Amino acid sequence: MGKKILIVNGPNLNFLGRKEMAIYGEESLADLTAIIYDWLAEQGWEGRFFQNNSEGEIINFIQKNAEWADGVVINPAAYSHTSIAIYDCLKSIRVPAIEVHLSDIYHREEFRRNSLTGLACEKVIAGLGVRGYIEALNNLKQIL
Ligand code: DQA
Repeated sequence: MGKKILIVNGPNLNFLGRKEMAIYGEESLADLTAIIYDWLAEQGWEGRFFQNNSEGEIINFIQKNAEWADGVVINPAAYSHTSIAIYDCLKSIRVPAIEVHLSDIYHREEFRRNSLTGLACEKVIAGLGVRGYIEALNNLKQIL
């Protein structure tokens, strides 16, 4: 049976490929979405994609779609380091989540080293760029 996955991207990731490309890569959010979509299609899986700059909207989306989904791939972006609300949201759903960061958050500014939301996830993947999302999907494939 094809699995159903939520792919959630947090604040500023709508600017991917336009800013700080040395850190986050050249791909736009549309490119990233297309790469993930192709992977899902190859598996016969379905995805619902969401990007938002607001913490509450991210939580609303996860809550509304959690019953539909078998798993979550999330890059909460800067909210990773601050959001107990997204942590609680990920804890409250019955499906596994994998957190992804394009950049290597462990070797940048001190304030990025800790991910609160990652504590509610099966795994945190960081520093692999866009490939990290595929790695996360492969992880979910093993878990599900
Ligand atoms: C990020 C890392 C975060 O620290 C940062 O705030 C982002 C992107 C990443 O994908 O590397 O917005 O989540």
